[in-house]
Amino acid sequence: MSAKQEDIFKQVISHCKEYGFIFQSSEIYDGLSAVYDYGQTGAVLKKNIRDYWWKAMVQMHDNIAGIDTAIFMHPTTWKASGHVDAFNDPLIDNKDSKKRYRADVLIEDHMARIEEKINKEVEKASKKFSPFDEAMFRSTNGRVKEYQAKIDEIKDRFSKALNDGDLNEVRQIIVDEEIVCPISGSRNWTDVRQFNLMFSTSMGSVSEEASTIYLRPETAQGIFVNFLNVQKTGRMKIPFGIAQTGKAFRNEIVARQFIFRMREFEQMEMQFFVRPGTEMQWYEHWKTARLNWHRSLGLGHEKYRFHDHIKLAHYANAACDIEFQFPFGFKELEGIHSRTDFDLKQHEQFSGKKLQYFDSELNQSYVPYVVETSVGLDRLFLAVLSSSLKEEVLEGGDTRTVLSLPPAIAPYKAAIFPLVKKDGLPELAQKIFNDLRFDFDMTYDEKDTVGKRYRRQDAIGTPFCITVDHQSLEDQSVTIRHRDTMQQDRVAISGLHSLLNKKTGIAGLLRSLA
Ligand code: GAP
Repeated sequence: MSAKQEDIFKQVISHCKEYGFIFQSSEIYDGLSAVYDYGQTGAVLKKNIRDYWWKAMVQMHDNIAGIDTAIFMHPTTWKASGHVDAFNDPLIDNKDSKKRYRADVLIEDHMARIEEKINKEVEKASKKFSPFDEAMFRSTNGRVKEYQAKIDEIKDRFSKALNDGDLNEVRQIIVDEEIVCPISGSRNWTDVRQFNLMFSTSMGSVSEEASTIYLRPETAQGIFVNFLNVQKTGRMKIPFGIAQTGKAFRNEIVARQFIFRMREFEQMEMQFFVRPGTEMQWYEHWKTARLNWHRSLGLGHEKYRFHDHIKLAHYANAACDIEFQFPFGFKELEGIHSRTDFDLKQHEQFSGKKLQYFDSELNQSYVPYVVETSVGLDRLFLAVLSSSLKEEVLEGGDTRTVLSLPPAIAPYKAAIFPLVKKDGLPELAQKIFNDLRFDFDMTYDEKDTVGKRYRRQDAIGTPFCITVDHQSLEDQSVTIRHRDTMQQDRVAISGLHSLLNKKTGIAGLLRSLA
């Protein structure tokens, strides 16, 4: 991360705390690493993002059913899914600092540092030459070419080592590249070992009889084991999907980047069951549909890109990520995977129950293929919040902090202010507030000057502020101030409901997808 990126990211984190979006979990006990709590504004923003996903995926699709399965599942589930044997991270310890690292992250960070050197060369040259042809510079400058060749060499070695499951070679890359421990500064490394990411606990009251169960590391398996229940009771015909949102748990070793990588997080997943042989067509369909969904939030088309997986998981025949430009660079936001019939077949084998679909058009039974869309709700929250936070310089030199959230997901749709706390203005303002809160998340504020109240609402992303003044008592009109333009209009109180509905309703976003 460059110093500038780091500053922006720090600003996002402190804004989250200052305005009640996110707190460190158990903060009074100095916190729990990579676990966070959502505060009064954050919980509503998160709920609104989840609602938008649910409505787009479930409410707007006749052939997608939404479910809500338990976090605890029969332990055999995780044997069948492969998580017990293969849900591992390669870890390495530094013998001097006794700190443990993910070997792949050490190598990736090392490559990022070389990339940073390239960026510095490009930046320097862009200031020196005008006009500046960046592509030409990158392909001809000796130093940049050398750095790029180094990155390519490490990438090749590393992906081959991962493909071969060769942990000695992973360690050798760390040694050859002279990667040091960020704490001790030494190169005194242990061997690389695999470490399972699942949290376990025991079920049952008597310890001898208790059995080990896992906190689910993904919500997907709850869908697979219910495939036939939903298909039969919902009379679903292929192609159809099953969606759910819920908590997932992973014992992440590299816990950093705030809510980007957490130990307890929330996923929004959909498994789409298709006829074998049609999966690539549906994979392409869901890639486009999901990218469009993200873009509909209006954070900027340029902030998204696809990243195809080179190393496919053993069960996948195609996989990609939708990456988002976070303050620390492009990183995975959502995964789209063509998972073949792997999961259902594994569950058939381990449970001894048939998980097949009778296709009446083909007059044939088969195990469906699956295309999965899987997005992290907390990561999406970070994407939305970090790209909406702006510092603006106003006319006259004043500054304001504004959170330009998409209005449909903002914690409050509007704030109501009486201009002064007398002359019957609070009573009328309260009446408007009480009428509108049946349909919209509203907030009421009568403390401080109106200017200060505007600033408070700007900082939490409230798209509209409505001020009740003396004229309101005479003609039943109010001033409505727009968050992004700061423009103020006079509108009738009777028109507020339809205005808020039009400008802040989720229906508008859903229509943009149609
Ligand atoms: N069922 C497939 C699956 O779980 P994944 O790529 O491991 O695939 C899907 O996870 C999404 O879940 C990721 O794209 C990311 O948004 C989110 N995610 C994964 N691990 C996370 C973590 N430790 N903290 C926050 N979000 C995470």
